[in-house]
Amino acid sequence: MKTLVYGAGVLGSYLAHVLIRGGNDVTMLARGSRAEELKQGGLVIRHYFQLKTTTDKVKVISTLAPEEHYDLIFVVMKCNDFPAVLPVLAANASSNIILVGNNPEAHDTQRILEELSGNKKNIAFGFQLSGGRREKDRMICVRAGGQMVLGALGGAVPFQDMLVRSFAHTQYKLSFLEDMDTWLKSHIITILPMNLATFAVKGDVKKLARNKKLLQQIITAMDEGFSVLEKLGYSVVPKGQVKAVRSYRKLTYMFLKLYHSLPVARMVAGSAQELVALNSAFDRLKQQAGIATPVWDELADRSGEI
Ligand SMILES: NC(=O)c1ccc[n+]([C@@H]2O[C@H](COP(=O)([O-])OP(=O)(O)OC[C@H]3O[C@@H](n4cnc5c(N)ncnc54)[C@H](OP(=O)(O)O)[C@@H]3O)[C@@H](O)[C@H]2O)c1
Repeated sequence: MKTLVYGAGVLGSYLAHVLIRGGNDVTMLARGSRAEELKQGGLVIRHYFQLKTTTDKVKVISTLAPEEHYDLIFVVMKCNDFPAVLPVLAANASSNIILVGNNPEAHDTQRILEELSGNKKNIAFGFQLSGGRREKDRMICVRAGGQMVLGALGGAVPFQDMLVRSFAHTQYKLSFLEDMDTWLKSHIITILPMNLATFAVKGDVKKLARNKKLLQQIITAMDEGFSVLEKLGYSVVPKGQVKAVRSYRKLTYMFLKLYHSLPVARMVAGSAQELVALNSAFDRLKQQAGIATPVWDELADRSGEI
């Protein structure tokens, strides 16, 4: 399958590696020094849990010409980076596009892309359940098996068969969801409080693990966030996370404490710009719902980023 991975950061690099090893014809769109790095040294990934480093040869482009056609385009970047690439995708001849990453306002993104596009676009949204960070000349990837949850906004993904074929010879799992928009909205409710708290301790997650008040605030902020979604008529997915926060608070506290004291918590990258963009999206949801979220707001103030 002729595939473009647009965005050559941590998770785009991992996805490109999976697709190359799965026998696809993969091109990466990278810019600046990252493009040079990929051209000269190949796609180098340190697989954190697997204790191995892989290097793949990959085709690299730095601009997407309108007439260049791909069977599939995966756009893997931070939520705040999407607006800049929508006009480029709109002008391109390819139809099948999967926007991968956090996006609590997926309907708006889809509408803008459709309005800008001269040709019919089939649009899906995905989220990779892995993490990692970049080092000087390589990506560190933290993952269990390699998995993406994905779905279209209204009905099934029209190019689902094509997606399944492109991952057929990989160990990577695709989980198609009926309501990806709700999944993406639910996801920010769990990760934003944790990221806000991480910024509040200036990235010192061990310090966070020892801070009872901050850990408790994370849980209360999640609870407030779920209330906002419920008021707007969304049924949080996966359901278990609401139960964890409301019925098993002590256990959730222990989990957060343990997670933030482990080295793996330091391997997952967060970005201040994305945090600001996601929190603004949450603010809009909160205003629509008309619900106060005092603990969430205090956490946002303490983060120093918002
Ligand atoms: N990394 C993690 O641990 C992790 C975990 C869970 C979820 N996520 C989510 O997954 C998504 C992707 O994260 P990531 O860590 O892979 O991000 P990332 O490392 O920042 O990668 C994004 C890539 O997109 C590129 N890019 C941005 N705008 C571009 C443009 N206009 N043209 C060309 N390239 C552009 C960036 O290039 P430059 O480097 O030149 O800016 C960067 O290489 C985010 O929503 C993130 O929150 C990440």
